[in-house]
Amino acid sequence: MSISASDASTTSSRPKPYVFEIAWEVANKVGGIYTVIKTKAAITSKELGENFCLMGPYNTGSARTEVEFVQPEAGVFRRTLDAMRAQGAVVHYGRWLIDGYPKVLMFDIAASAHRLAEWKADLWETTRIGTPADDRETNDAVLFGYLVSWFLGEFRNQLDESATVLAHFHEWLVGVALVLLRVRQIRVATVFTTHATLLGRYLCAGNVDFYNNLSKFDVDAEAGQRGIYHRYCIERAAAHSAHVFTTVSQITGDEAEFLLKRRPDIILPNGLNVVKFSALHEFQNLHAQHKEKINAFVRGHFYGHYDFDLDNTLYFFIAGRYEYSNKGADVFIESLARLNHRLKAAGSKMTVVAFLIMPAPTNNFNVEALRGQAVTKQLSDSVADIQKAVGKRIFEAALRGTMPDGKLLLSEQDIVQLKRCMFALQNPRLPPVVTHNMVDDGKDPILNHIRRVRLFNDDSDRVKVIFHPEFLSSTNPLIPMDYEDFVRGCHLGVFPSYYEPWGYTPAECTVLGIPSVTSNLSGFGSFVHEHVEDPHSYGLYIVDRRFKSANESIDQLAGIMFDFCQFSRRQRINLRNRCERLSELLDWKRLGLYYKKARVLALKRTYPEVYGMTAHHDDGTDEEDEEVALFKVPRASAPASPRFPVLHLNDEDEDDADALNPEAFQV
Ligand code: UDP
Ligand code: G6P
Ligand code: GLC
Repeated sequence: MSISASDASTTSSRPKPYVFEIAWEVANKVGGIYTVIKTKAAITSKELGENFCLMGPYNTGSARTEVEFVQPEAGVFRRTLDAMRAQGAVVHYGRWLIDGYPKVLMFDIAASAHRLAEWKADLWETTRIGTPADDRETNDAVLFGYLVSWFLGEFRNQLDESATVLAHFHEWLVGVALVLLRVRQIRVATVFTTHATLLGRYLCAGNVDFYNNLSKFDVDAEAGQRGIYHRYCIERAAAHSAHVFTTVSQITGDEAEFLLKRRPDIILPNGLNVVKFSALHEFQNLHAQHKEKINAFVRGHFYGHYDFDLDNTLYFFIAGRYEYSNKGADVFIESLARLNHRLKAAGSKMTVVAFLIMPAPTNNFNVEALRGQAVTKQLSDSVADIQKAVGKRIFEAALRGTMPDGKLLLSEQDIVQLKRCMFALQNPRLPPVVTHNMVDDGKDPILNHIRRVRLFNDDSDRVKVIFHPEFLSSTNPLIPMDYEDFVRGCHLGVFPSYYEPWGYTPAECTVLGIPSVTSNLSGFGSFVHEHVEDPHSYGLYIVDRRFKSANESIDQLAGIMFDFCQFSRRQRINLRNRCERLSELLDWKRLGLYYKKARVLALKRTYPEVYGMTAHHDDGTDEEDEEVALFKVPRASAPASPRFPVLHLNDEDEDDADALNPEAFQV
């Protein structure tokens, strides 16, 4: 489809804006910002069609598998790219292969590296932001910023005066372009969303009493001491230059007010692309299927010590970027030690296998972890061979009209083969607590913590620990599962973060129908607290890390996990049903409206002559007045109402019946 300036006009009285969304994580997976951009693309593409385009740095690795590169058809995109390419810039255009199939522009930073000195000097001249020579990330941010602002300036020039353009920037790494657009007075409406503050993340990781001192930090000095003053300047300049400044949660909004000195105009909570199964129990079946895959791994990992019952085993996990204290891995491990103690003391028949999935530098898988899977596979292959041979013997005997002699069914050779496998399964060593050889084993904070609390996978331990310092994927030789499937197979996600502007991991658990723990210091936790009357009754547990001491939070978490271990299978099934029903609250179909509001506000501030003080929909309603239909979900055991389901954890039949009610949660 060709794009031209005239395409900007719609049948409504004002033109449909061109909207660019810019992030380092476009088609480039790092953490949660990738999830924001990727999951939101479908609804934004639906709303804006061909006027929507994403921008990110060209990253050969992921771009090759995620983006279909093509030449743009004749129109404003083509003209802009031709103009830039004529001057040596390398910009790739294509479609991101995700829901919504959005346009994407990828800027090749390396191809413009020769202009770094010139652009850094210009940045200093025009903004007084000085950048050191040896910060690679900042250098890349500068190159990317100059390329993006060049594109947007050129794009604007190629359009009629009447056309409107909006650029939405995510996070400081792409903030340089926003600042340049304003300095150069290019008429593009700008929105800046910060998904954290640099200083907040650094201060929290450094064990500072952050939330009680927010108003007291000397921000310039703190940034300077941590060697991030120049990055901080970019972040702060972007926040102040934007027509509309936003964050992903209230808690990060408060932080921004103190650390970046601007209060957000709007909060943009993160959503997900919620896919509902036509059969309501389908997600429960998926849990059972994927749990079986985790079982297979666990059998191998604990070879020689496999003395616990998988039917009475629960899988808990923490996952995310390796931020030991910010993500609450410290609190998780400490609570696991207390849980272990409590389960032992109570003589519990339950075993908990706790996974920690946080990428760290490694030298590949360790031999012991691989050996466990190999010897178990060998046993399974041998049993399959023997099973075939035994079947043949039974068949032959039956065919001749004789009952096979049970004692003779296993041949001597079979017995030898079986014994060899069983000997190989003996293991005098304890099952490894880590699956990889760590580059810095002695200094690794997670490993040291596991050592400190002595969770060594002893036979007597009721809590076993497996640290997998790499993100999961279906091509992984140990746990061949994509992250989503792994989550489905687990029982409880545990994310007791100290610093977490939003925190997708518990939100993803909810949408997949898996109970989880979050904290009242995470944006998601506060959002749930605000919108769900009794989150615990839905299997969403919120640990208090704001008003309790570390010791009390650890005890609280150990208690939540201990109580979870007391649930029957039936109760766990019910809890998963309830949990999954909260997913509507997180759907972009609802939360995407906040993005729309932010855009309308920025367009009004940039193009008052077009948007006036109030923008109207085609049907005459005011766009800015559009209310996001969020609802407060009553507690799960609340009395029946026509709108909400009745839920009683102990009243299993009623709950199950309700799970089959398609009207549940319709608002
Ligand atoms: N994630 C993943 N594989 C893993 C663990 C996590 O893909 O093994 C993803 C997860 O699905 C989530 C993102 O990483 O979307 C982490 O986002 P979050 O907002 O929780 O934290 P961030 O890393 O942005 O601080
Ligand atoms: C799902 C399946 C059930 C299975 C259960 C196991 O609900 O539909 O067939 O029994 O998972 O649950 P658990 O919590 O024990 O893993
Ligand atoms: C950041 C935050 C995380 C948030 C994500 C998406 O990386 O650390 O809490 O969920 O951005 O907004």
